[in-house]
Amino acid sequence: MAKSSKYVSKTPDENGIIHWSVEENQIWQELVERQLKCIEGKACNEYLEGLKKINLPHTRIPQLHELNAVLKNETGWQVAPVPALIDFDEFFRLLANKQFPVATFIRSREEFDYLQEPDIFHEIFGHCAMLTNPAFAEYTHQYGKLGYAAEKKDRVYLARLYWFTVEFGLMQTEQGLRIYGGGILSSPGETQYVYSGKPEINPLEVLDVLRTPYRIDIMQPLYYTINSINDLFDISKMDIMSLVEKAKELGLFEPKFPPKEKLAS
Ligand SMILES: [Fe+2]
Repeated sequence: MAKSSKYVSKTPDENGIIHWSVEENQIWQELVERQLKCIEGKACNEYLEGLKKINLPHTRIPQLHELNAVLKNETGWQVAPVPALIDFDEFFRLLANKQFPVATFIRSREEFDYLQEPDIFHEIFGHCAMLTNPAFAEYTHQYGKLGYAAEKKDRVYLARLYWFTVEFGLMQTEQGLRIYGGGILSSPGETQYVYSGKPEINPLEVLDVLRTPYRIDIMQPLYYTINSINDLFDISKMDIMSLVEKAKELGLFEPKFPPKEKLAS
């Protein structure tokens, strides 16, 4: 999660409608059309099926109630408008209540290709399709409940599990390597990069994931794969907090990235 943001979320009106400008809708359209091409043959089937269900408009940013109608029907999830940045407590509280936080701002044209904060394009295009999948939805719900109950010192471990699944998860399928992580699916650069032969790609073991440091501002040097979306359902039934304890005992893996450059003081 970014620590500060130049963006401010838009407030819905009394009917829950967010009024987007022509330029904001135009940015959405360009992002959607570019990314739909980019994920061809790369997104997993569950994502593509979900995309059909949520039926995103191309020429304007969807209103949250449109998504809610579909999600409610499929898995009981909802999307909730939130400020540009929320803290972990609020993040977990929302997930624990089957509410997926959506920051209601869209990136500026200057940050068309990359921005650190999750904007509405990332949240909706990246995550909402997967939330129509029952196994993914259950995993995310259980994760929220676990995180909400967890102490601060344990939440940093849980954050890695979310990062390497919901955000940057890959799946080995009969058709080859496929993406289900929203952080990749909403990023043209990272979608290509996954297939570049550069990153290390390992089968997901929860204990390994809990011990893997990551940086939010670089292409990931390492991804973890599941074999089926049902693996996430199985993980949601595991005793994850005992694995967190084990991860603490064993310590973190050596980072596969250079340390962030220190700001000159
Ligand atoms: Fe995300």
